[in-house]
Amino acid sequence: MQEQTAMEAEKVRYPHQFTQDLVIDPLLYTESSLLKDVDTLSDPTVIVTDYMIMGMVLKYFYCYVHKGSFDEVVPLQDISALCEMFSRHSSLNEPDDNIELMNYLRQWSFSLRMLADVTKTSHIIRSIITQKISPKLTKSDEYVGLDIGTGTGILLLAQHIHARRLGFKDITLYGIEYDKMVGLQSYKIFKELGLAEIILGDARDCRNYEPLLNKQVTFVSNEMVAAMHQPLRREHFVSISKTLFGTLGENIANAGFFPEGLIAFCKEMNVSVLLAKNTAFLGPKEYHEMNLLPQGIIIEGNIVPLHELGNELMPYLSEWSKTRLSHRW
Ligand SMILES: C[S@@+](CC[C@H](N)C(=O)[O-])C[C@H]1O[C@@H](n2cnc3c(N)ncnc32)[C@H](O)[C@@H]1O
Repeated sequence: MQEQTAMEAEKVRYPHQFTQDLVIDPLLYTESSLLKDVDTLSDPTVIVTDYMIMGMVLKYFYCYVHKGSFDEVVPLQDISALCEMFSRHSSLNEPDDNIELMNYLRQWSFSLRMLADVTKTSHIIRSIITQKISPKLTKSDEYVGLDIGTGTGILLLAQHIHARRLGFKDITLYGIEYDKMVGLQSYKIFKELGLAEIILGDARDCRNYEPLLNKQVTFVSNEMVAAMHQPLRREHFVSISKTLFGTLGENIANAGFFPEGLIAFCKEMNVSVLLAKNTAFLGPKEYHEMNLLPQGIIIEGNIVPLHELGNELMPYLSEWSKTRLSHRW
């Protein structure tokens, strides 16, 4: 009887759901707008917490689907309902589903998967916004960021926060994306926010780096890490690294990077190899023509096995979202 009363009370607060159906604990979520969260996280006096970042990722997910809501409060109940729908978007609709919305989730499935993977995305964002930059760049007037394979563009938002936390006023960010539909969507979002330029083009083509040729780049993110068991070449990682370092060379010499490094397994040599900035993420010369399978990522100075990225943020998720939210790789 007492239990029923508690459940009823829960129903009043969240009329459509019980708290165990919410994506994260309501005590850790701030009912605010995405832009308000971006401002808060950009304030260098604010100590960033994992759940603040997760809240921002959830709001970006919501705003990516519901255009024009960047300045609106996103209720936890609404984002939880969206996550629940996304968790079964590749299956058939349930009787009360909004058909148009379910089909939108299907159309944008790949991009949305990045955002719905709240823990991995938040871990990546935390590593970007807290990364120290080279003293050679702190004195510079401008923060120049580059996000390769920008997809939803959420890593550009992370770079924006990073720049503001470091005290930069002049912030120039570029995202390169070759999928026309995805790139156009990010172009519209970042034009509306006024935060970054999207270059619609192939990151393997040196011409797409033209706007950066005369700039000292502060930060580069390149999240084209293939799924485990799939070679890095498959995600264009190898050819992009060659073009990036071949084209921007000195301009990125002092830049911070995401990933900071990768550990990849080389079948032919039967060893693991470190890929980092010092070798243009290609590893020693003898590995250049070989197939490398990513195994681990260097993030916040630590080696993290690929399957464990984001795991430390799992405890903040509710039980259903731990098992049902989709994963990027
Ligand atoms: C793993 S997703 C990136 C996710 C992104 N960081 C996000 O959070 O949305 C990889 C993206 O890179 C894009 N891409 C793949 N190869 C590319 C290339 N050669 N040039 C530009 N974009 C590329 C894909 O279209 C996809 O949007």
